[in-house]
Amino acid sequence: MSNSSKRRQSSSRVRCENVEQTQIQSRIVSPQRVLKVVFLGNSGVGKSSFIQHCCSGHFSGTMTATVGIDYQMKTVTLGSTTIVLQLWDTAGQERFRSITQQYYRKADGILTMYDITHSPSFTAVRGWMDAVQENKCEGTVLMLLGNKLDLADGHSRKVSTKEGQRLAEQHQAVFYECSAKTGHNMEELMTQLAGMLAAQHDRQCEDSLLLTEDTTKTSCCR
Ligand code: GTP
Ligand code: MG
Repeated sequence: MSNSSKRRQSSSRVRCENVEQTQIQSRIVSPQRVLKVVFLGNSGVGKSSFIQHCCSGHFSGTMTATVGIDYQMKTVTLGSTTIVLQLWDTAGQERFRSITQQYYRKADGILTMYDITHSPSFTAVRGWMDAVQENKCEGTVLMLLGNKLDLADGHSRKVSTKEGQRLAEQHQAVFYECSAKTGHNMEELMTQLAGMLAAQHDRQCEDSLLLTEDTTKTSCCR
């Protein structure tokens, strides 16, 4: 194990304190429009850094490895509609996989992330995506994110944009390259995600309304 991995592990801290309050907070914000988004991907790809920059506007170069699961809220305004996204940050380390799976079962959106400077994190995406396909609900919005785009210059890039796009297409996922450090593409992808989630949410509401009407009709004819 590398020194940096050891450092990341030893300085890990449990960040599950928010989890129990999810229901209460969801009710306070808006019961209809709080949508659950889960971040997946290998340890070190930048999930926590992305969520932190997205929600608090700053990047910390000294982020420690996530232990367990935690979430932060992000509000996105689309025209006159406000969408509240609950961004669930999962631990990429192997030993937390069983905990993580429980959370993406009921996700409205799943963002799988890899590091464009680290090929193994891209190879691992197939495994993450397969697990997602097995466990996700119908209609869950999928995105694939190639992070650390700020390191793309020189010889650091190990995964090309084309490879990322191709893999995303294979899994019917929307593809972006981004940087949790500079914030590149962050707003764009969060806005697109919020729009897709809102549209999906509206479709599900319409479907359940139709289903209710159907049931009423059926019971009348009996
Ligand atoms: P786990 O919690 O272990 O699953 O890892 P993670 O995916 O949450 O990664 P984390 O956000 O902790 O970032 C890992 C390391 O990569 C940290 O040292 C970050 O500072 C760095 N990092 C994250 N995103 C970027 C980025 O966009 N660019 C650069 N240059 N470094 C980044
Ligand atoms: Mg993390």
